Amino acid sequence: MNARVAILISGSGTNMMALVEAMVRDFPARPVLVVSNDPEAGGLAKARAKGIATFVVDHRGRDRADFEAEIDAVLRRAKVDIICLAGFMRILTPGFVAGWAGKMLNIHPSLLPKYPGLHTHARAIAAGDSEHGCTVHEVTGVLDGGPILGQARIPVHPGDTPEALAARLLPLEHRLYPAVLRRFATGDRTPVLMT
Ligand code: GAR
Repeated sequence: MNARVAILISGSGTNMMALVEAMVRDFPARPVLVVSNDPEAGGLAKARAKGIATFVVDHRGRDRADFEAEIDAVLRRAKVDIICLAGFMRILTPGFVAGWAGKMLNIHPSLLPKYPGLHTHARAIAAGDSEHGCTVHEVTGVLDGGPILGQARIPVHPGDTPEALAARLLPLEHRLYPAVLRRFATGDRTPVLMT
C-alpha cells in the first residue's frame, strides 16, 4: 500500500511541488496533506491547485507546545505515514520529533554535516569551498543532524553569489528529494548520491 505523505512548508513550496509531481503511477507514496505555519506561504495555493488538502497552523502569537500539538493532531487525523519537511522554517522540539521518529525527512541546502542552520550558501562561499550541495536526512532531535539519506553536489564557481548558488542548487534539490522519498517509502535507507 502507498505510504501517506504530509509535506510541511513555510514558503514558495518548490520542493513540495517536486515531491507532489513525483508521487504518481508506481511511486510508493501519495501526498495527502500540505501544512504551513504561514498563511501567506506561496506553496499553499500550488498544493490546492493540485487538489491536495492544506492546513495552516499559524505559529505567531502562540505557545510552541500548542502550535506543535495542533500540527501533530492534524497529521494523526490524516493517518500520515511519512512527513517531509520542505522549506519548513520552524524548529521542531525533541518531543514532537520523537513522536515521529524514523518517519520524518528534511531537505537542507548544504552538504551536511557542513553548515547546519541558516545562510548555508553564503557560508560555503565564505569558507572558499569548491563544492556545495544539498542533503536529505532523517529528522532527529539534533538540528539538521539526523542520518543522511541522500546528497547532491554542485561546483562553486569563482564569483558565485549566495543567490546564484541557491538558484543552481534548487533544481538538484527537486531531483534529490523525490529520489530519496521513493527509496525511503519502501524501507530502503541506502543514501542516494547525485551530482
Ligand atoms: C530550499 O532551498 C530548502 O532546501 C531550504 O529552503 C528552501 C525552500 O524552498 N530549507 C532550509 O533552509 C531548511 N533549513 P522551497 O519552499 O521552494 O522548497
